[in-house]
Amino acid sequence: MIDLSVDLCGLKLRNPTMLAAGVLGETGKSMATVARAGAGAIVTKSIGKKPRSGHLNPCVVELPFGLLNAMGLPNPGAEAFGREIAEAREGGAPVIASVFGSTEEEFAELCGLMAKYGADAVELNLSCPHAHGYGAEIGSDPDTVQAICRKAKKRLRIPVLAKLTPDTTSIADLALAAQRGGADGIVAINTLKGMRILPEARMPVLANRVGGLSGPAIRPVGVRCVYEIFEAVKVPVVGVGGVSNASDALEYIMAGASSVQVGTAVWSEGPEVFSKITGGLMKFMAENGFNSVKEMVGIAHSSRP
Ligand SMILES: Cc1cc2nc3c(=O)[nH]c(=O)nc-3n(C[C@H](O)[C@H](O)[C@H](O)COP(=O)(O)O)c2cc1C
Repeated sequence: MIDLSVDLCGLKLRNPTMLAAGVLGETGKSMATVARAGAGAIVTKSIGKKPRSGHLNPCVVELPFGLLNAMGLPNPGAEAFGREIAEAREGGAPVIASVFGSTEEEFAELCGLMAKYGADAVELNLSCPHAHGYGAEIGSDPDTVQAICRKAKKRLRIPVLAKLTPDTTSIADLALAAQRGGADGIVAINTLKGMRILPEARMPVLANRVGGLSGPAIRPVGVRCVYEIFEAVKVPVVGVGGVSNASDALEYIMAGASSVQVGTAVWSEGPEVFSKITGGLMKFMAENGFNSVKEMVGIAHSSRP
Protein backbone atom coordinates (compact mmCIF):
# COMPACT_ATOMS: atom_id res chain seq x y z
CA MET A 1 0.00 0.00 0.00
CA ILE A 2 1.43 3.36 -1.00
CA ASP A 3 0.96 6.05 1.64
CA LEU A 4 1.24 9.68 0.50
CA SER A 5 0.42 11.17 3.92
CA VAL A 6 3.05 13.15 5.79
CA ASP A 7 3.50 14.54 9.27
CA LEU A 8 4.68 18.14 9.16
CA CYS A 9 5.57 19.46 12.62
CA GLY A 10 2.64 17.50 14.06
CA LEU A 11 0.20 18.49 11.28
CA LYS A 12 -1.29 15.54 9.42
CA LEU A 13 -1.25 16.14 5.66
CA ARG A 14 -2.98 13.60 3.41
CA ASN A 15 -0.29 14.23 0.79
CA PRO A 16 2.93 16.29 0.63
CA THR A 17 1.59 19.19 -1.48
CA MET A 18 0.58 22.61 -0.18
CA LEU A 19 -0.76 25.81 -1.70
CA ALA A 20 2.05 28.42 -1.48
CA ALA A 21 1.37 31.86 0.02
CA GLY A 22 0.04 34.49 -2.36
CA VAL A 23 -1.82 32.57 -5.04
CA LEU A 24 -5.58 32.02 -4.51
CA GLY A 25 -5.02 32.46 -0.77
CA GLU A 26 -6.96 35.66 -0.08
CA THR A 27 -10.48 34.35 0.38
CA GLY A 28 -11.81 31.43 2.37
CA LYS A 29 -13.75 30.26 -0.66
CA SER A 30 -10.74 30.08 -3.00
CA MET A 31 -8.64 28.32 -0.34
CA ALA A 32 -11.37 25.75 0.31
CA THR A 33 -11.62 25.16 -3.45
CA VAL A 34 -7.88 24.45 -3.62
CA ALA A 35 -8.14 22.08 -0.64
CA ARG A 36 -11.01 20.23 -2.30
CA ALA A 37 -8.95 19.97 -5.49
CA GLY A 38 -6.39 17.91 -3.55
CA ALA A 39 -3.82 20.15 -1.83
CA GLY A 40 -2.52 18.54 1.37
CA ALA A 41 -2.47 21.91 3.17
CA ILE A 42 -3.23 25.55 2.44
CA VAL A 43 -1.04 28.58 3.12
CA THR A 44 -2.93 31.88 3.14
CA LYS A 45 -1.86 35.07 1.43
CA SER A 46 0.53 36.95 3.77
CA ILE A 47 -1.52 39.02 6.20
CA GLY A 48 -0.37 42.19 7.98
CA LYS A 49 -1.86 44.28 10.78
CA LYS A 50 -3.61 46.82 8.60
CA PRO A 51 -5.31 46.62 5.19
CA ARG A 52 -2.81 47.31 2.38
CA SER A 53 -3.53 47.91 -1.28
CA GLY A 54 -0.10 46.85 -2.51
CA HIS A 55 1.90 48.30 -5.41
CA LEU A 56 0.50 50.05 -8.46
CA ASN A 57 0.02 48.21 -11.77
CA PRO A 58 1.74 46.71 -13.63
CA CYS A 59 2.59 44.43 -10.75
CA VAL A 60 3.00 41.11 -12.58
CA VAL A 61 4.93 40.24 -15.74
CA GLU A 62 4.62 36.83 -17.37
CA LEU A 63 7.94 35.51 -18.68
CA PRO A 64 8.60 32.39 -20.78
CA PHE A 65 10.09 30.68 -17.70
CA GLY A 66 8.04 32.05 -14.81
CA LEU A 67 6.52 35.18 -13.30
CA LEU A 68 7.96 38.41 -11.99
CA ASN A 69 5.60 39.91 -9.41
CA ALA A 70 5.63 42.99 -7.24
CA MET A 71 2.23 42.70 -5.62
CA GLY A 72 3.55 44.56 -2.55
CA LEU A 73 1.72 42.38 -0.01
CA PRO A 74 -1.87 43.56 -0.67
CA ASN A 75 -4.18 42.13 2.00
CA PRO A 76 -7.38 42.98 3.89
CA GLY A 77 -5.64 43.27 7.28
CA ALA A 78 -5.66 40.83 10.17
CA GLU A 79 -8.99 41.85 11.73
CA ALA A 80 -10.91 41.04 8.56
CA PHE A 81 -9.21 37.70 7.98
CA GLY A 82 -10.70 35.54 10.74
CA ARG A 83 -13.75 34.54 8.74
CA GLU A 84 -11.60 33.62 5.72
CA ILE A 85 -9.58 31.17 7.82
CA ALA A 86 -12.75 29.58 9.18
CA GLU A 87 -14.14 29.19 5.65
CA ALA A 88 -10.82 27.87 4.30
CA ARG A 89 -10.80 25.14 6.95
CA GLU A 90 -14.10 23.84 5.56
CA GLY A 91 -12.03 22.56 2.61
CA GLY A 92 -10.78 19.76 4.87
CA ALA A 93 -7.03 20.49 4.82
CA PRO A 94 -4.89 22.17 7.51
CA VAL A 95 -4.68 25.95 7.06
CA ILE A 96 -1.38 27.70 7.69
CA ALA A 97 -1.64 31.47 8.15
CA SER A 98 1.17 33.45 6.53
CA VAL A 99 1.94 36.71 8.35
CA PHE A 100 4.27 39.65 7.79
CA GLY A 101 5.36 42.42 10.11
CA SER A 102 8.21 44.84 10.57
CA THR A 103 9.07 44.05 14.21
CA GLU A 104 9.10 40.96 16.39
CA GLU A 105 6.18 42.40 18.41
CA GLU A 106 4.10 42.86 15.28
CA PHE A 107 4.81 39.28 14.12
CA ALA A 108 3.93 37.88 17.56
CA GLU A 109 0.69 39.86 17.73
CA LEU A 110 -0.36 38.65 14.28
CA CYS A 111 0.52 35.07 15.15
CA GLY A 112 -1.63 35.28 18.28
CA LEU A 113 -4.58 36.55 16.22
CA MET A 114 -4.19 33.81 13.60
CA ALA A 115 -4.12 31.12 16.29
CA LYS A 116 -7.30 32.65 17.77
CA TYR A 117 -8.93 32.48 14.33
CA GLY A 118 -8.23 28.74 14.18
CA ALA A 119 -5.11 28.54 11.98
CA ASP A 120 -3.39 25.15 12.30
CA ALA A 121 0.09 26.73 12.04
CA VAL A 122 1.70 30.03 11.07
CA GLU A 123 4.27 30.79 8.40
CA LEU A 124 6.44 33.84 9.06
CA ASN A 125 7.12 35.76 5.86
CA LEU A 126 10.75 36.74 6.38
CA SER A 127 11.46 36.80 2.68
CA CYS A 128 9.23 38.90 0.39
CA PRO A 129 11.67 40.80 -1.90
CA HIS A 130 9.50 43.77 -2.87
CA ALA A 131 7.93 45.40 0.23
CA HIS A 132 9.97 48.11 1.93
CA GLY A 133 10.57 47.42 5.63
CA TYR A 134 9.21 43.87 5.49
CA GLY A 135 10.15 40.40 4.29
CA ALA A 136 13.68 39.93 2.97
CA GLU A 137 14.75 43.39 4.20
CA ILE A 138 14.47 42.14 7.77
CA GLY A 139 14.77 38.41 7.06
CA SER A 140 18.32 38.57 5.71
CA ASP A 141 19.75 39.15 9.18
CA PRO A 142 20.14 35.94 11.24
CA ASP A 143 19.78 37.73 14.61
CA THR A 144 16.50 39.32 13.52
CA VAL A 145 15.23 35.99 12.17
CA GLN A 146 16.04 34.32 15.48
CA ALA A 147 14.39 37.07 17.54
CA ILE A 148 11.19 37.06 15.45
CA CYS A 149 10.90 33.26 15.63
CA ARG A 150 11.53 33.28 19.39
CA LYS A 151 8.84 35.85 20.12
CA ALA A 152 6.30 34.14 17.83
CA LYS A 153 7.04 30.77 19.35
CA LYS A 154 6.57 32.11 22.90
CA ARG A 155 3.11 33.34 21.98
CA LEU A 156 1.88 30.14 20.32
CA ARG A 157 1.07 26.49 20.85
CA ILE A 158 0.63 25.80 17.12
CA PRO A 159 3.70 25.16 14.89
CA VAL A 160 5.76 28.08 13.57
CA LEU A 161 7.32 27.84 10.09
CA ALA A 162 9.96 30.36 8.96
CA LYS A 163 9.91 31.19 5.24
CA LEU A 164 13.35 32.29 4.09
CA THR A 165 14.88 34.27 1.26
CA PRO A 166 17.38 32.83 -1.22
CA ASP A 167 18.79 36.35 -1.74
CA THR A 168 21.53 35.86 0.83
CA THR A 169 25.04 34.45 1.09
CA SER A 170 24.03 31.51 3.25
CA ILE A 171 20.40 30.42 3.57
CA ALA A 172 21.63 27.63 5.87
CA ASP A 173 22.75 30.31 8.36
CA LEU A 174 19.27 31.86 8.27
CA ALA A 175 17.71 28.42 8.79
CA LEU A 176 19.99 27.76 11.75
CA ALA A 177 18.98 31.12 13.24
CA ALA A 178 15.29 30.23 12.82
CA GLN A 179 15.89 26.87 14.48
CA ARG A 180 17.69 28.58 17.39
CA GLY A 181 14.67 30.84 17.76
CA GLY A 182 12.47 27.76 18.11
CA ALA A 183 10.93 27.53 14.62
CA ASP A 184 9.32 24.13 14.10
CA GLY A 185 10.06 24.07 10.37
CA ILE A 186 11.72 25.97 7.51
CA VAL A 187 10.08 26.95 4.22
CA ALA A 188 12.42 27.64 1.29
CA ILE A 189 12.30 29.58 -0.94
CA ASN A 190 10.48 32.82 -1.54
CA THR A 191 10.90 34.57 -4.89
CA LEU A 192 14.27 35.91 -6.06
CA LYS A 193 14.59 39.67 -6.49
CA GLY A 194 14.55 40.50 -10.21
CA MET A 195 13.83 43.18 -12.79
CA ARG A 196 12.69 43.45 -16.39
CA ILE A 197 13.30 46.47 -18.62
CA LEU A 198 11.32 47.19 -21.77
CA PRO A 199 13.91 48.58 -24.25
CA GLU A 200 11.28 50.38 -26.39
CA ALA A 201 10.01 52.28 -23.33
CA ARG A 202 13.49 52.61 -21.82
CA MET A 203 12.06 51.82 -18.42
CA PRO A 204 11.34 48.96 -16.04
CA VAL A 205 8.10 47.11 -16.75
CA LEU A 206 6.98 46.82 -13.12
CA ALA A 207 5.69 50.02 -11.52
CA ASN A 208 7.72 49.04 -8.44
CA ARG A 209 10.75 48.52 -10.74
CA VAL A 210 11.82 45.32 -8.94
CA GLY A 211 9.83 42.20 -8.22
CA GLY A 212 10.16 38.56 -7.21
CA LEU A 213 10.92 35.84 -9.75
CA SER A 214 9.00 32.57 -9.38
CA GLY A 215 8.23 29.49 -11.47
CA PRO A 216 10.38 26.92 -13.31
CA ALA A 217 13.41 29.22 -13.58
CA ILE A 218 13.98 29.24 -9.83
CA ARG A 219 13.61 25.51 -9.17
CA PRO A 220 17.37 24.72 -9.28
CA VAL A 221 17.95 27.53 -6.77
CA GLY A 222 15.19 26.24 -4.50
CA VAL A 223 16.41 22.64 -4.67
CA ARG A 224 19.96 23.76 -3.84
CA CYS A 225 18.68 25.80 -0.88
CA VAL A 226 16.64 22.88 0.50
CA TYR A 227 19.64 20.57 0.08
CA GLU A 228 21.86 22.96 2.09
CA ILE A 229 19.24 23.59 4.78
CA PHE A 230 18.58 19.85 5.21
CA GLU A 231 22.26 19.33 6.00
CA ALA A 232 22.28 22.22 8.50
CA VAL A 233 19.12 21.83 10.62
CA LYS A 234 17.12 19.13 12.40
CA VAL A 235 13.63 20.57 11.86
CA PRO A 236 11.54 19.65 8.77
CA VAL A 237 12.01 21.62 5.54
CA VAL A 238 9.26 22.57 3.09
CA GLY A 239 10.42 23.06 -0.52
CA VAL A 240 8.93 25.72 -2.78
CA GLY A 241 9.87 27.21 -6.13
CA GLY A 242 8.96 26.00 -9.61
CA VAL A 243 7.03 22.85 -8.70
CA SER A 244 4.46 21.93 -11.35
CA ASN A 245 4.66 18.13 -11.60
CA ALA A 246 5.67 15.02 -9.65
CA SER A 247 9.24 15.05 -10.93
CA ASP A 248 9.71 18.64 -9.67
CA ALA A 249 8.26 17.66 -6.28
CA LEU A 250 10.55 14.62 -6.10
CA GLU A 251 13.62 16.80 -6.66
CA TYR A 252 12.70 18.78 -3.54
CA ILE A 253 11.77 15.69 -1.51
CA MET A 254 15.01 13.93 -2.36
CA ALA A 255 16.92 17.13 -1.49
CA GLY A 256 15.33 16.95 1.97
CA ALA A 257 11.85 18.48 1.82
CA SER A 258 9.09 16.75 3.80
CA SER A 259 6.51 18.49 1.62
CA VAL A 260 6.36 20.99 -1.23
CA GLN A 261 4.40 24.14 -1.94
CA VAL A 262 3.01 25.20 -5.31
CA GLY A 263 2.40 28.82 -6.34
CA THR A 264 3.04 29.83 -9.94
CA ALA A 265 1.80 26.51 -11.36
CA VAL A 266 -1.55 27.10 -9.62
CA TRP A 267 -1.62 30.51 -11.31
CA SER A 268 -0.94 28.98 -14.75
CA GLU A 269 -2.69 25.58 -14.53
CA GLY A 270 -5.34 26.04 -11.83
CA PRO A 271 -5.96 23.95 -8.68
CA GLU A 272 -6.05 20.75 -10.79
CA VAL A 273 -2.25 20.82 -10.64
CA PHE A 274 -2.43 19.19 -7.18
CA SER A 275 -4.08 15.97 -8.37
CA LYS A 276 -1.63 15.87 -11.29
CA ILE A 277 1.31 16.04 -8.85
CA THR A 278 -0.07 13.50 -6.36
CA GLY A 279 -1.07 11.10 -9.17
CA GLY A 280 2.47 11.32 -10.57
CA LEU A 281 3.96 10.72 -7.11
CA MET A 282 1.85 7.56 -6.65
CA LYS A 283 2.98 6.28 -10.05
CA PHE A 284 6.66 6.99 -9.36
CA MET A 285 6.51 5.33 -5.95
CA ALA A 286 4.78 2.23 -7.32
CA GLU A 287 7.32 1.90 -10.12
CA ASN A 288 10.32 2.50 -7.86
CA GLY A 289 9.41 0.48 -4.79
CA PHE A 290 8.67 3.28 -2.31
CA ASN A 291 5.78 2.83 0.16
CA SER A 292 5.91 6.19 1.93
CA VAL A 293 7.07 9.74 1.21
CA LYS A 294 9.28 9.58 4.31
CA GLU A 295 11.47 6.93 2.67
CA MET A 296 12.40 9.42 -0.07
CA VAL A 297 13.05 12.52 2.05
CA GLY A 298 16.71 13.53 1.71
CA ILE A 299 17.62 10.38 -0.19
CA ALA A 300 19.82 12.37 -2.61
CA HIS A 301 22.25 13.03 0.25
CA SER A 302 23.12 9.38 0.66
CA SER A 303 23.38 8.61 -3.04
CA ARG A 304 25.97 11.17 -4.01
CA PRO A 305 28.27 9.93 -6.81
C1 LIG B 1 1.62 36.41 -7.40
C2 LIG B 1 2.44 35.91 -6.25
C3 LIG B 1 2.16 36.38 -4.96
C4 LIG B 1 2.92 35.92 -3.88
N1 LIG B 1 2.61 36.37 -2.62
C5 LIG B 1 3.30 35.86 -1.54
C6 LIG B 1 2.94 36.23 -0.22
O1 LIG B 1 1.98 36.95 0.04
N2 LIG B 1 3.69 35.74 0.80
C7 LIG B 1 4.76 34.88 0.61
O2 LIG B 1 5.40 34.45 1.57
N3 LIG B 1 5.09 34.49 -0.66
C8 LIG B 1 4.40 34.95 -1.72
N4 LIG B 1 4.72 34.54 -2.98
C9 LIG B 1 5.84 33.59 -3.17
C10 LIG B 1 5.34 32.15 -3.28
O3 LIG B 1 4.67 31.74 -2.10
C11 LIG B 1 6.52 31.19 -3.55
O4 LIG B 1 7.44 31.23 -2.47
C12 LIG B 1 7.26 31.54 -4.83
O5 LIG B 1 6.39 32.05 -5.81
C13 LIG B 1 7.99 30.34 -5.41
O6 LIG B 1 7.11 29.28 -5.70
P1 LIG B 1 6.46 29.03 -7.16
O7 LIG B 1 7.58 29.00 -8.14
O8 LIG B 1 5.73 27.72 -7.03
O9 LIG B 1 5.54 30.17 -7.40
C14 LIG B 1 3.98 34.98 -4.08
C15 LIG B 1 4.23 34.52 -5.38
C16 LIG B 1 3.48 34.96 -6.45
C17 LIG B 1 3.79 34.42 -7.83
